[in-house]
Amino acid sequence: MTEFVKGLPKAELHLHIEGTLEPDLMLALGKRNGVPLSYSSVSEVEAAYEFTNLQSFLDVYYEAARTLLTRQDFFDLTFEYLERASADGVARAEIFFDPQTHTERGVPIGTVIGGISDALDAATERLGMSSGLILCFLRHLPAAQAMATLESALSYRHLLLGVGLDSSEVGHPPGDFADVFAAARDEGLRVAVHAGEEGPPQYVWEALDILGAERIDHGNRALEDAALVNRLVVDQVPLTVCPLSNLKLQVVRRLEDHPLRDMLQLGLNVSINSDDPSYFGGYIGANYERTQAALELSDEELAGIARNSMKATFLPEEEKQVLLDRLDVYTSGRRPVANGL
Ligand code: ADE
Ligand code: ZN
Repeated sequence: MTEFVKGLPKAELHLHIEGTLEPDLMLALGKRNGVPLSYSSVSEVEAAYEFTNLQSFLDVYYEAARTLLTRQDFFDLTFEYLERASADGVARAEIFFDPQTHTERGVPIGTVIGGISDALDAATERLGMSSGLILCFLRHLPAAQAMATLESALSYRHLLLGVGLDSSEVGHPPGDFADVFAAARDEGLRVAVHAGEEGPPQYVWEALDILGAERIDHGNRALEDAALVNRLVVDQVPLTVCPLSNLKLQVVRRLEDHPLRDMLQLGLNVSINSDDPSYFGGYIGANYERTQAALELSDEELAGIARNSMKATFLPEEEKQVLLDRLDVYTSGRRPVANGL
């Protein structure tokens, strides 16, 4: 990775913690917890990562998540990610987790949130990293289960930043989840929704107008609808784009075909994120780097993308400004000032 990309202060806004489970940790947890896996080596695991679409990935991802059982497992998973992200210049991470993937197997939601939150606290202390936690509902499961999940999570409300919607997109429109998102908004939770990865522009409209989405995760297919693009530009709704994910899940055929440059030219707030980096061939730094190479982005354009990521965080304005100032110091090449910015 170039020194410029590595040092560029950035926020990661589209990252599923279960998607950071590296093959070696998966195998170790399988052994530690007595969970049988169909793989016996890292190379066997990696050989399974040939995906043709979102569902072919999700099948492998949910299978691997069965190895996560204890609070320590969730801590180890999360802290490993945070160390990698910090090394890639991530100053702020707003992290998705999928509680239903674990509660369905009998793992208490407190174990999941507790282990992840312990790691976020450790990263604040040891790495100086700022972070937040976003609970995602699985859209392939009924809306009533999402509501029950929200209710059980409210004991941990103080540890949550927001809610999201993920999993198999086509056939599961955002509008189906109107009630649970209304309840989450009433609790003051922020809203980010996966839409337009494989699903039509209509799902992006529903995410905005029915669920109150403040960010759209992916959003690639929004480009098919000029009125929608106009709405996203006028309101500066952030799109958390994931280039290596799009490549691996065949949303685009080649990285050179990725619409990110078009999105920037349209005036959309686009950021670069890693989605499920252990499965898609690279963490956030690699996503910046490979996208830069494929689309011939300049350092100024990369800095603009990092700026978009800071602006799109769910931080209070003053804290956002601290990050933006840090980015300005970096891009203007000035030496860090005495207060550490
Ligand atoms: N869960 C994990 N990664 C996802 C993605 N890219 N889209 C939808 N659900 C997901
Ligand atoms: Zn995602």
